[in-house]
Amino acid sequence: MSNLMNNYGRLPVEFDHGQGVWLWDKEGNKYLDALAGIAVNSVGHAHPRLVKAISDQAAKLIHCSNYFQIGLQEQVAEKLLQHSGMKAVFFCNSGLEANECAFKIARKYGHDKGIEVPNIIVLSRAFHGRSIATLSATGNPSVREGFAPYTRGFIHVDANDIDAIRELAKTNKDIVALMFEPIQGEGGVLPIDLHTMKEFRQICDENDWLLMVDEIQCGLGRTGKWFAHQWAEIKPDVMTLAKGLAGGVPVGAVVVDEKANIFKPGNHGSTFGGNPLAMRAALETLNIIEDENLVENAFNVGKKLKKDLSKSLNGFSGVLEIRGKGLMLGIVLDRDAHDILEPALKAGLTFSVTAGNVIRLVPSLILTEAEAEEIVKRITPVIRAFLAQPKI
Ligand SMILES: Cc1ncc(COP(=O)(O)O)c(C=O)c1O
Repeated sequence: MSNLMNNYGRLPVEFDHGQGVWLWDKEGNKYLDALAGIAVNSVGHAHPRLVKAISDQAAKLIHCSNYFQIGLQEQVAEKLLQHSGMKAVFFCNSGLEANECAFKIARKYGHDKGIEVPNIIVLSRAFHGRSIATLSATGNPSVREGFAPYTRGFIHVDANDIDAIRELAKTNKDIVALMFEPIQGEGGVLPIDLHTMKEFRQICDENDWLLMVDEIQCGLGRTGKWFAHQWAEIKPDVMTLAKGLAGGVPVGAVVVDEKANIFKPGNHGSTFGGNPLAMRAALETLNIIEDENLVENAFNVGKKLKKDLSKSLNGFSGVLEIRGKGLMLGIVLDRDAHDILEPALKAGLTFSVTAGNVIRLVPSLILTEAEAEEIVKRITPVIRAFLAQPKI
């Protein structure tokens, strides 16, 4: 009988340590890690520079209140602003916290304009987190079920239904923002097309709404650009980050452009947010991403991985599509794929299944071409054997 709450369906393996893109379990079995803690271990496991930075900082100052100056926050912010072209940053501890902050910015933006019940447009297959507000903004019914009532202020629209959004703009004067993930991770590694993203920007400009992008999963180099919205050559007003930002140390960030830089002292805060330990880890992670050209690497190795997977899985009738960009790839199967996870572990490979039937590969950005080939070598027979079973 477990003394932990029953909220996770855990696989029967416990990892002991990692190195690069490799993991070892307690029995000494070795795995190629194509999940990276769900896009978190961006620079791989036990990167010597990150290990050193974290241990040095732990010996100096782990936590310090935001009542005081924290220079490391400014250094991390400088890098995020340099790569995004935006204006200011707030640090928190997780993805949902970053999104909560983004919603508060949007609501305040509305209130400042005299809108009493501001509404935010979100997309139907979106995932923004599991707190009550972020759950209310999340589209997936299976994540939401059982937790009503949801908060007011979110309007769910199909991603491709630009007409519905334009219609809302005409009829609903309480809308203040539109939020979306450039590639929907939990929605099934589903990219929003570049033209749609440009239209989102245009509609926001026309209606004085904030354009808010959730880059918690797809941001920070993963798709082969620093931020996935940059593929559409747009700039958002608000961007949320977390996951890979500090290479595994919990952190979240909200990046705003001029228009959304509206908080005053007392409007928002966090006890742990932006603590020196997390900031030092984030700074070193960003330095490593820059020094090792990992954004470029994610693009090149991701492209090869996608191509090699397409070749290797060609002719598998149960494989419907391989989609995604850089090192954020989804292999769409014609059936629920959860039962593939254990055989994959037995074959020495970790990945996850999202949206029921999509195998999600989000390895560390340090993945080499040889390691990408090894993923293909390991995953192909696992998928073949899985698809050979009768469809349930
Ligand atoms: C796009 C997106 N937004 C928000 C979240 C929530 O982040 P967290 O689990 O850190 O609260 C996630 C987590 O998977 C995510 O993928």
